[in-house]
Amino acid sequence: MPVHETTPQAAAPVADPLVARGVRRRLGTLPVLDGIDLRIAHGEVVALVGPSGCGKSTLLEIVCGLQAPDAGELTAQAAALMPQRDLLLPWLDARDNVALPLRIAGAGRREARARAGELLERVDLGRFARSRPDALSGGMRQRVSFLRALATERELVCLDEPFGALDAITREELRTWLAQLLDARPRSVLLVTHDVEEAVLLGDRVVVLSPRPARVVATIPVADPRTAAGGTVARRDPADPAIVAARRAVHDALHAAIAAGREASAA
Ligand SMILES: Nc1ncnc2c1ncn2[C@@H]1O[C@H](COP(=O)(O)OP(=O)(O)OP(=O)(O)O)[C@@H](O)[C@H]1O
Ligand SMILES: [Mg+2]
Repeated sequence: MPVHETTPQAAAPVADPLVARGVRRRLGTLPVLDGIDLRIAHGEVVALVGPSGCGKSTLLEIVCGLQAPDAGELTAQAAALMPQRDLLLPWLDARDNVALPLRIAGAGRREARARAGELLERVDLGRFARSRPDALSGGMRQRVSFLRALATERELVCLDEPFGALDAITREELRTWLAQLLDARPRSVLLVTHDVEEAVLLGDRVVVLSPRPARVVATIPVADPRTAAGGTVARRDPADPAIVAARRAVHDALHAAIAAGREASAA
């Protein structure tokens, strides 16, 4: 019997914010998720990597309650989602886009706008509060989308390829920016990325999925910089031997899973 429970944000944070056991999902006749087990602890960043089309976005939508699993169990706190496509509303300016989830959560217009304005100031977008999305650069739109996902202060945040369509430099800048946000205010994060380096630079743990129908084929721990003296996610060093080793392990697991998938479909 599939179960999807959400607990209110105010509840004492005792249980893990996300526990999934044996989650299965079909879309039409297509099996997409083949029994996913996944757990996220408080303040933990889990990076999810997997071949294109394997079911990552489907899994995030299930975690956020936008789709129900066909089988398995899912217990998740109410989660914020930054979807894969930039879904900023073109007719609203940046401030009203960020204010939208606050309004939906019940805040008054003035209060929501004031809070959205503060958030935009904090990421150096104060001058663009009244600009509509088509007047912003790709990196700015992405930051506005982030703020919209983070505005309601939910502890569990699902980010679906948040740096997807950006050039390499902007991608790196935004990755550092996100790491600093997480250092300043830890949250429990499920981060989908196709970039293995990004996965090990942001994730405390990397979960590797098989080709569709997705199963978890490997879980690779990355040394947690927050447990090291003075360590921060933002200062995680790509040349650190632990990071290099984790990156290689993720790369190898991903390629092994893709090769196994090809063999299975050729058989
Ligand atoms: N509404 C739908 N009906 C039928 N099939 C769908 C539907 N939505 C998605 N799919 C299919 O389900 C599979 C998984 O899609 P999903 O978007 O979850 O994968 P993904 O891992 O996020 O892909 P990507 O790496 O491209 O972001 C894909 O093959 C997709 O074509
Ligand atoms: Mg996707």
